[in-house]
Amino acid sequence: MEQYVIKGGNPLVGDVTVSGAKNAALGILAASIMTDESVLIDNLPDVKDINVMLEAIQEIGARVDRIDRHTVRINGSNIKEVSVDDEFIRRIRASYYFIGALLGKYKSAQVPLPGGCNIGSRPIDQHIKGFRALGAEVVIERGAVIAHAIDLVASHIYLDVVSVGATINIMMAAALAEGQTILENAAKEPHIVDVANFLNSMGANIKGAGTDTIRIRGVNKLHGTEYSIIPDQIEAGTFMCAAAATRGDVMVRNVIPKHLEAISAKLMEIGCEVIEFDDAVRVVGKPNQRHTDIKTLPYPGFPTDMQPQMAVTLALANGTSMVTESIFENRFKYVDELARMGSNIKVEGNVAVIDGVKGFTGAQVNAPDLRAGAALVIAGLAADGYTVVDEIGYIQRGYECFEEKLQGLGAMIERVDSDREIQKFKLRIG
Ligand code: UD1
Repeated sequence: MEQYVIKGGNPLVGDVTVSGAKNAALGILAASIMTDESVLIDNLPDVKDINVMLEAIQEIGARVDRIDRHTVRINGSNIKEVSVDDEFIRRIRASYYFIGALLGKYKSAQVPLPGGCNIGSRPIDQHIKGFRALGAEVVIERGAVIAHAIDLVASHIYLDVVSVGATINIMMAAALAEGQTILENAAKEPHIVDVANFLNSMGANIKGAGTDTIRIRGVNKLHGTEYSIIPDQIEAGTFMCAAAATRGDVMVRNVIPKHLEAISAKLMEIGCEVIEFDDAVRVVGKPNQRHTDIKTLPYPGFPTDMQPQMAVTLALANGTSMVTESIFENRFKYVDELARMGSNIKVEGNVAVIDGVKGFTGAQVNAPDLRAGAALVIAGLAADGYTVVDEIGYIQRGYECFEEKLQGLGAMIERVDSDREIQKFKLRIG
């Protein structure tokens, strides 16, 4: 099984370029099958979740041409199956986007319920509420969501919880419904706006994405388009925290600084220098970084997907920080792993109380999920000595060329798959 071996203790220094946004790409790929014409998508991140999604699209009969590593052409005119069932697709939660896309286009969809996730229970009741409001009959049978409609008809929908997935899913189905749907208490994340822009470039009529009220006037059909995905806000934030935690100096390129404001603000609060450029952010870590408090919230609040990386940074700051996780209930699983590196963190309910320590020491740790895995890599980069991170398959789901990008910043990290390779790394690095 693959692992990362890291020799930590050096500040990260240099430039790194962020890839396309995974979470935007997942929605956009699902939406791309909603037309019979060809769609060209660029700036696609080359990560596991995206490649699984592309396989599933092919599986239901769409044509997928990989033009290059980051560009794909999709043609959904030959889709035969409104039923998505593939061993892999069960493993990525975003497979639920096929419900909205297929229901919109074919008025029928059958998709396995996304499996349990290790960051907490993740219901999809709001998605289902939205589809029903649009006139679909939705049942859950034999582990799948089965949705049918004679006609989809616009509706006024209020989301009881702010949900990224429900907002995107309802937007897709409503794009091909009759009349104007008003979606209130919608999520406002940058990838909601990106999926709406993509659908609009296919001829949809969606207004207000990025605010909490989205108006979707249904159209008869969608057409082909060419579209470039926005940069990944969370990947950018991860490198920003890596710079801060290692007291480095990193220019993070190909970003939209506005999307990073919550992260930049917190890093400045703890004493880092954060300099914004048109499409880059430079983070300079400082020796005596201070504590602060964080509460995860829907955008523009502090992203839950940045909580572990920021917690690692705070675990190396002076004083006591409180991190409140208000989106998912099980997102502190990295805390026990981090304790083995010398951190001092207590979790009470959805709050982690972090007493900053002077430094970490390397240890063998286990990545419990995607973002926590990235956070443990940051911890390893900041730690004295060698760290081995197990279960890095999680990290590869969402970070393109993670170790190569870190190596470009001077990190001593390698992907290995045996003890022998770990020994070789240690001999080489010294
Ligand atoms: C998306 C992101 C994920 C991120 C999360 C929050 C993708 C593929 N994934 O996940 O990386 O961590 O947003 O920013 O884009 N909820 C319900 N009922 C529902 C739907 C959600 O109660 O029908 C609750 C969830 O349990 C959670 C909160 O709403 O507490 C937010 O979840 P949601 O925004 O839907 O997350 P995802 O779209 O699954």
